[in-house]
Amino acid sequence: MNAHTDDLCIEECDGILRMKSKKSSRDHIHLGTGVQDSTLTNTASQFLDPHTFAFEDFECPSNVNKENLGLFPQWHLPLKLSIILSVIVFIYTFLRDILHPFISLSKNEFYKIPILVMNKVLPVVAITLLALVYLPGILAAVLQLHRGTKYSRFPNWLQRWMLMRKQLGLLSFFFALLHAVYSLCYPMRRSYRYKLLNWAYQQVMQNIENAWIEDDVWRMEIYVSLGILSLAILALLATTSIPYVSNSLNWREFQCVQSKMGYCALLLSTAHALVYAWRKWADLKYFVWYTPPSFMIAVVLPIIVLLCKTVLVLPWLVKKLRKIRHGWEETSTSKTEPAENVFL
Ligand code: HEM
Repeated sequence: MNAHTDDLCIEECDGILRMKSKKSSRDHIHLGTGVQDSTLTNTASQFLDPHTFAFEDFECPSNVNKENLGLFPQWHLPLKLSIILSVIVFIYTFLRDILHPFISLSKNEFYKIPILVMNKVLPVVAITLLALVYLPGILAAVLQLHRGTKYSRFPNWLQRWMLMRKQLGLLSFFFALLHAVYSLCYPMRRSYRYKLLNWAYQQVMQNIENAWIEDDVWRMEIYVSLGILSLAILALLATTSIPYVSNSLNWREFQCVQSKMGYCALLLSTAHALVYAWRKWADLKYFVWYTPPSFMIAVVLPIIVLLCKTVLVLPWLVKKLRKIRHGWEETSTSKTEPAENVFL
């Protein structure tokens, strides 16, 4: 338990510090980073505060330069990343699921784009973003173990990555939520109803009385259940990242929810995808144009993250990390940079 706590100091303390500082300077939240408080009168800043002014009546005051106001600056990179990932997965799935049958079997399956293809893109992006939330913490721990000190600055890219974990996590939840809604809509589709009728007809023609396949039934019951559990935990994580809620938690509570439950969500969603895949792993028909199916690609990063985490909770590594995070340093280590920007 403590081992986890220490491990996640690194991941969560910066988040909490940022939350607290945000709380104490509320105006900055609304005004963005590029605006200095002194440039605005109290009236103007009140006018800009969405909590004190109705959005419908909003007009930009003449003394405020709109360009100086940031537009969700912390979301730019996570959003770009999600869009790029979505486009890549969409193209990949389109080539495999739509273009391949069209070219090689002359089958028109373009009707799959709005729901079935979309519902491959959404979960793959969701699980990848979730893995990206936990990967920097692992890299930071490895770096600290390697350097044998906490008094050494992380590379800038790692710091930046750590600071956008909240946004990545919320985006992951958003994609997962959409995925769940799309999945639950499957039986409503007309294409599904026609397919069901066709299967029933074929069954009658083949004189099959019972279409029940035991292991397929189990597979679906299990993977849907795992998906629901994972989504529920993600919802909890998203709720606790609301400043009002997170400010009401102490450090240990916040860390427990954001880290332990986060890893739990990652584990459950990986298990969800693995059980969904079931025996498809060994089935060559899923390797269209020699490319692996998307569920295989989707689980690679989460499995790497989970394996690394498993290694990092081994007792001797945990002990060393804990010592390092309490200020202990390996004698051979040279401090290269001051500790001004160090995460706990
Ligand atoms: C209420 C919750 C959920 C339900 C009902 C659900 C349902 C499904 C269904 C029906 C599929 C098969 C899709 C298909 O036939 O193409 C699927 C696949 C998948 N789901 Fe979920 N899911 C849920 C939550 C999640 C969550 C939270 C994640 C991850 C963050 C996730 C990740 C995946 C992945 C990676 C796949 C494999 C997609 C592929 O074929 O490439 N799911 N899920």
